Amino acid sequence: MPVTTNVALGVGGGIAAYKAAELARALMERGFSVQVLMTRSAEEFVRPLTFAALTGRKVLTHLFGAVSPEDTLDSAIEHIRVAQENQILVIAPATADLLAKLAHGMADDFLTTTYLAFTGPVVLAPAMNTNMWNHAATQENLRILRARGHVIVEPDEGILACGIVGPGRLAEPEVIAQAVSEVALSGANRASAKRDLEGETVLITAGPTQEPLDPVRYLSNRSSGKMGYALAEAASERGARVILVSGPVTLAAPALSSGIELIPVRTAVEMRQAVMDHLEQATLVIKAAAVADYHRANPPQQKVKKTAARLSLELDPTPDILAEVGRKKGDRLLVGFAAETENLIEEARRKMQSKNCDMVVANLVSQPGIGFDSDENEVTLVLRTGETIPVERASKSAIAHRIFDEMIKLRLALHSAQ
Ligand code: CTP
Repeated sequence: MPVTTNVALGVGGGIAAYKAAELARALMERGFSVQVLMTRSAEEFVRPLTFAALTGRKVLTHLFGAVSPEDTLDSAIEHIRVAQENQILVIAPATADLLAKLAHGMADDFLTTTYLAFTGPVVLAPAMNTNMWNHAATQENLRILRARGHVIVEPDEGILACGIVGPGRLAEPEVIAQAVSEVALSGANRASAKRDLEGETVLITAGPTQEPLDPVRYLSNRSSGKMGYALAEAASERGARVILVSGPVTLAAPALSSGIELIPVRTAVEMRQAVMDHLEQATLVIKAAAVADYHRANPPQQKVKKTAARLSLELDPTPDILAEVGRKKGDRLLVGFAAETENLIEEARRKMQSKNCDMVVANLVSQPGIGFDSDENEVTLVLRTGETIPVERASKSAIAHRIFDEMIKLRLALHSAQ
């Protein structure tokens, strides 16, 4: 019998506050227990009684409610109890004012003090006028909240109450409820996750490299870094210490709570240095980065001008980081990646031999919907033992976990063969 997840639903003061009643109902239909908290301005739009009738529970509104003197202490610390008893905090509608308060830790009412005392996952569903949404201050606050690991359910576009057409309308209650379900599911997965990488230090490279041609131009590739970041998340969930050396990507940095150590680099030479600096500590090394094979060794200090009829570039090879780690790996387990457009398995085997890897994750990047910028991948794991394991199309997170499953088996196989 699954344990009920308690959700604290914070309602902000906006026209969309009435939709929070539908959200409360949608959450309860999905089996969540819902405790509603309202800001003072939310009460201007919807009466607490609506939520109390829906949820069958008292709605929490003020820090120091109208209570008898002997109950004042209970009232004063109730936000701490709410923060402890609920597993997920959802705020809908999250107004521009609320986003600003949350981003900057201002706590002057029940909802904002509960937020500060709350340590679990937070889902925010903003709603406001389009110009307020687009304002640099709101966007900056959202960036802070995203970096904190909160889930933002983006507002829909449409005709707003003020007559403007654009983004700002609260997402549909079903969409917000679905996001809460996903957060609950990933929390459950995390709690039940295998902790089979405890004691390991995993060094992972991710993303592309950028090789400057002059001060304003560079050579790079289409790698998004998603596979490397998914590997880092998976290793951290399974209890490993993780060092993530990342080329320039647009992904959010891993949440601080994950403990993943992020080392941002730009060029292949910088990536090599970061890898070598941390190799000693690592017990598992995974090179998921798409490192440029060539660079301009000494790019000019000044911008190249459009003077010649034809421009030829002379490029030199970059250091092959994987091959160098292969030479120095000792008994570390080493995993390389091979992104190919043809002869997948042969190429993966060749790279495994020449770079002394224990496993090569091979993927055909010419297929639509997988590889590079997509959220899914379909790979073949080519092992030192000669085995090849096809892994069906799945999310990069699922593929990452599968890679660790096979690495652990491989380590046991290699140990018992010694
Ligand atoms: N790699 C690396 N350093 C480089 C080039 C590649 O560490 N300078 C690593 C990648 O991180 C990946 C693996 O080597 O794990 C294979 O990369 P790939 O570009 O497919 O292989 P190459 O050796 O460059 O071979 P080719 O270009 O001939 O396919």
